[in-house]
Amino acid sequence: MAEQTLPNATQLPIPMTSLASAAADPARLAAPQPIVAMHGIVKRYGGGADDGGDTTAVYALRGVDLTIRRGEFVAIVGPSGSGKTTLMNILGCLDVADRGRYVLAGVDVSRLEDDALAKVRNHFVGFVFQQSNLLARTSAVDNVALPLAYRGDSQRHAKALAALKAVGLERRAGHRPNQLSGGEQQRVAIARALVTSPAILLADEPTGALDSKTGAGIMALFAQLHASGRTVIVVTHDPRIADLAPRQVHLLDGRIVLDASTAEIHARRLDDASPFQAIAMAAPGAAAASPEAH
Ligand SMILES: Nc1ncnc2c1ncn2[C@@H]1O[C@H](COP(=O)(O)OP(=O)(O)OP(=O)(O)O)[C@@H](O)[C@H]1O
Ligand SMILES: [Mg+2]
Repeated sequence: MAEQTLPNATQLPIPMTSLASAAADPARLAAPQPIVAMHGIVKRYGGGADDGGDTTAVYALRGVDLTIRRGEFVAIVGPSGSGKTTLMNILGCLDVADRGRYVLAGVDVSRLEDDALAKVRNHFVGFVFQQSNLLARTSAVDNVALPLAYRGDSQRHAKALAALKAVGLERRAGHRPNQLSGGEQQRVAIARALVTSPAILLADEPTGALDSKTGAGIMALFAQLHASGRTVIVVTHDPRIADLAPRQVHLLDGRIVLDASTAEIHARRLDDASPFQAIAMAAPGAAAASPEAH
């Protein structure tokens, strides 16, 4: 697939001046704006209109600051309940924060209503989930073309074939999901997420339903998409999977507790460990023994 391009935003129901100037202004292009800029993001489930000491309220995110530049490949890591999916849902414009500011591709989406949020999501975000959620009686190529069918894109078949090619599945275009392996189904889901040329590709535990070898293949595909210029954000609770991304953001109890390059994290693991542990951790496949293990 060609390098990612800014999606066509002409149908967005919000002032597009910021996006238009971001695209046109050479100074801004020379110093690229972050694709994701989050400040003080708070998300609460339950409770009343304000928290007011309501003990049923759960603070899933407690003040998250996160900046991601175009073309980065970031793993979001953390134990169950740490807020990973909540963060992804806000990143992907499936939900909005209660407090804080989120600017996606130059558009402030912090307080958008559902309709506007959906339009932004359709233009800027490609989502991959743990389950591929393909239509069972529909061929791979038609599954991939679906997001473009909603837009009435007359080039959708050719674009869907190109997306399938990008995930190495052009020869399975006519197969239905039950004629594909689990890993192949997930590749089709990735092609479906890519077909609209989204500004960010988000994946929430995309390898969670796969065996480790197939999961590694899916991560290698994300790495390849990153190498071709895409911005990729992957959630995982598996440190071995996270280690395949150059940057890791670790969440704990709704807060970012570590945001560093994978190389730096490896160096710290070795520094922190006793000589015996250091040797054990340096051994191939030993990352599961790290303190971040689920
Ligand atoms: N719809 C909801 N209503 C109430 N609480 C919720 C809701 N969704 C999530 N939570 C709570 O918010 C916190 C963060 O949940 P989230 O799903 O973001 O965690 P996670 O890191 O994705 O976990 P996992 O690894 O299990 O998928 C948890 O305490 C969870 O119970
Ligand atoms: Mg989750």
